[in-house]
Amino acid sequence: MSKRLLEVKGLTKAFGGVVAVSEVDFHLNQGEIVAVIGPNGAGKTTLFNMITGVLPPTSGQVFFDGKELTGKQPYQIAEAGITRTFQNLQVFENMSVIENVMTGVHCRLKTGFLQAGLRLMGVKKEEQQAFDIAMSCLEKVGIADLAFEPAEVLPYGNQRLLEIARASASSPQLILLDEPMAGLNPQESRQLVDIIKKKREEGMSFLFVEHDMETVMGISDRIVVIDYGKKIAEGTPAEIYENEKVIAAYLGTEDEEEAI
Ligand SMILES: Nc1ncnc2c1ncn2[C@@H]1O[C@H](COP(=O)(O)OP(=O)(O)OP(=O)(O)O)[C@@H](O)[C@H]1O
Ligand SMILES: [Mg+2]
Repeated sequence: MSKRLLEVKGLTKAFGGVVAVSEVDFHLNQGEIVAVIGPNGAGKTTLFNMITGVLPPTSGQVFFDGKELTGKQPYQIAEAGITRTFQNLQVFENMSVIENVMTGVHCRLKTGFLQAGLRLMGVKKEEQQAFDIAMSCLEKVGIADLAFEPAEVLPYGNQRLLEIARASASSPQLILLDEPMAGLNPQESRQLVDIIKKKREEGMSFLFVEHDMETVMGISDRIVVIDYGKKIAEGTPAEIYENEKVIAAYLGTEDEEEAI
């Protein structure tokens, strides 16, 4: 059986009186593609923000590769091997495409800032190394020809690919994608599905939030369903497709319909 890579236990986030995520438990094995789905406002992004250190959990724990990561800073979580992309793109618009990806490389390189000041030659070598790594990440998502363009001129779909290249740059074990297909045209979506599948073949694991059910059903090994902050179901695509609680969460129960 493959290794349990990510384990989330009782993860909870309250914003004042609103409990956005409530006692969520799930795990991801090495090499798996797991989807997190649920209606708008269900708490999916908040869950990702806690796993990646953007938000401290109110309670609960996150374990990764045998270590506890609960409450760690985003850079520490990236160093541990988890990176992400964002629902609302977070591209550095004033940098070139390759510079954007190079910002993702740094946690993999050894030279610290002090050491960098003392050993300029080492830095130059590392910068070259970072450049080479970033370029190969851009090649893998098919936008290496845009490396020297300012990131802000890239069309939306390419900015999404840029974020994936940046998230891959530190050779993480797990990448979290928050609605990667949003705003992509069908051809771009297919291209992204191929990229994800290829990376998985290379040993990468993925946790992703997505509303596009065709993609979710097509590439997930397992699906976790969140509704009003709580996990209401977990299973294979076939199991989730037929789960009555899931159907009710998406379509509304008869009672709710009457109330509307
Ligand atoms: N920083 C915050 N402060 C207060 N409330 C927040 C904050 N972030 C999220 N929320 C609330 O928490 C709940 C869950 O939001 P979240 O963004 O996690 O949902 P989501 O499942 O990602 O939704 P969507 O599918 O629309 O992206 C919502 O009620 C939202 O308004
Ligand atoms: Mg969201």
